[in-house]
Amino acid sequence: MIVLGIESSCDETAAAVLTDGRRIVSSVVASQDAIHAPYGGVVPELASRRHLEVITPVIAQALRDAGVTLADLDGIAVTQGPGLVGSLLIGCSVAKSLAWVHKKPLVGVNHLEGHIYASFLTEDPPEHPFLALVVSGGHTALYHAKRPREYDLVGQTRDDAAGEAFDKVAKLLGLGFPGGPIIQKTAERGDPRSIAFPLAHITDGAHDFSFSGIKTSVSLYVKGHRPLSEAQVADVAASFQAAVVKMLVRRTLRAALHLGTKRVVLTGGVAANGPLRAALAAEAEEHGVRLHIPPPRLCTDNAAMIAAAGTERLRAGERAPLGMNAIPDLTLAA
Ligand code: KG4
Ligand code: ZN
Repeated sequence: MIVLGIESSCDETAAAVLTDGRRIVSSVVASQDAIHAPYGGVVPELASRRHLEVITPVIAQALRDAGVTLADLDGIAVTQGPGLVGSLLIGCSVAKSLAWVHKKPLVGVNHLEGHIYASFLTEDPPEHPFLALVVSGGHTALYHAKRPREYDLVGQTRDDAAGEAFDKVAKLLGLGFPGGPIIQKTAERGDPRSIAFPLAHITDGAHDFSFSGIKTSVSLYVKGHRPLSEAQVADVAASFQAAVVKMLVRRTLRAALHLGTKRVVLTGGVAANGPLRAALAAEAEEHGVRLHIPPPRLCTDNAAMIAAAGTERLRAGERAPLGMNAIPDLTLAA
């Protein structure tokens, strides 16, 4: 089964060709980082304009790299939500047009399920049931993937997404955008134990996360110590990153043990973070939990993961009508 995946939910325009839901034959990701960097965050209007400019060449290149034509496809999968409405609309419109003209089955994919399916594109895919921590720029949530296409929401952030916190702290420190990779790099020169940024205590028993308190403490620290030396910036980055990692690792393990799940998937843009990968791996091993983490290039937004989740749904007989529309606040589970 040859499936074309299309992703345009935020600031990456991506297309990929996947065979049998597992093998990536081509994957093209056009990043808009340079466009949004001067603003320190994604500007929705600029994002949709750029998607419109590059989506056709990106799809053409993915097909060319894979050595296939549109006629060879068995289906098309496109991100339907959640995301920026203007960005999602570009992908959905193109996917619907291609499906209509070439008479191909079309399926809409939840971006978060896409992130989870990135873990099936590895040598060591997870088996259901498993617990998935999806941690990205827009989302931080734990899902219990009971069976294919069936999810329970176990916990989620009560304020900022973890990636959003990385981006905001990078902005506070004047490091640039996107914040995650720059914080990770800067943190390598700092001491993670130098500043104790407090973790929110969630006392009602829920498996939720909270990052706004850490972000506020960083902001107060920066204001109180201006101007920061390069060494101080590195210490703030390292201590902030350590606090976020601790919050993510503790809550995830606690939820896994509570559910009695021995398999955990870590995915989403923030899952590209080296110290997070290492800390969760160490903690999982200690508790006899098997951990599955896609390689960093599959953790951040891409279309191979959309094609993977789409293949599962096409196989199950799902078809999107031509009236299918972008759903900016699409949920994966209640
Ligand atoms: O999944 P993704 O590519 O897009 C969304 O669906 O949001 O995630 C992007 C987020 C950004 O906030 C970015 O700063 C963060 O992932 N990120 C990282 C790293 N690489 C990307 N955060 C921490 N460490 C990284 N190495
Ligand atoms: Zn994403």
